[in-house]
Amino acid sequence: MSHLIAPSLLASDFANLQKECEMINSSDADWYHLDVMDGVFVPNISFGIPIIKYINKHTLKPLDVHLMIVEPERYIKDFKNVGANILTVHLEASKHLHRTLQAIKQEDMKAGVALNPHTAVEQLEPVLEETDLVCVMSVNPGFGGQAFIEGTYRKVEKLKNMIVKAGLDTKIEIDGGVTSKNARKLIECGADVLVAGSFVFKSENPTQTISELKNI
Ligand code: DX5
Ligand code: ZN
Repeated sequence: MSHLIAPSLLASDFANLQKECEMINSSDADWYHLDVMDGVFVPNISFGIPIIKYINKHTLKPLDVHLMIVEPERYIKDFKNVGANILTVHLEASKHLHRTLQAIKQEDMKAGVALNPHTAVEQLEPVLEETDLVCVMSVNPGFGGQAFIEGTYRKVEKLKNMIVKAGLDTKIEIDGGVTSKNARKLIECGADVLVAGSFVFKSENPTQTISELKNI
């Protein structure tokens, strides 16, 4: 399978979301990456359920929703109702992660677990079988436009080994500081999905930049 590209709307023009969605619809992108921040789990507030409801009216591709919020289990149904296809919670934010992943799957969504840069991939082992996607944070979550953490490559390799050994098809997603400079190496280490915010939306031609990442 070739890798997937998930542009993060966090770096887009929030006053022109319909236009941004139409650009993604007609691009080589595979998913929409939507970053929900609560100002508690991370030191920033982005957007939430009502905005995603309206984004969903203009999208033709799966919605990959990344929850950077405390007690994410409280909102599983709400995100399903506004169109989330993949729902990712942080390992560090969910006290009963196993139950949370089951609840996400019960709502017919793919269940994702995000790991902060300080969290070892080994911590995932007990729930790996329940996990459809692991989002490896390659920056500290909360803001777009940060520099990629080089230690991510090693982490991705370790995680890929765990997945292969367990005979699973869990996808590995990389989130933060992704550019055409690190994309190839990330894929070689085992990444399946690349999230890119600033690199896409701050470029002169976002459609072309998405193709560049897709064809790397
Ligand atoms: C950061 C978010 C990312 C962010 C990535 O907390 O989870 O999805 O939008 O942005 P860039 O690609 O600019 O690092
Ligand atoms: Zn994200």
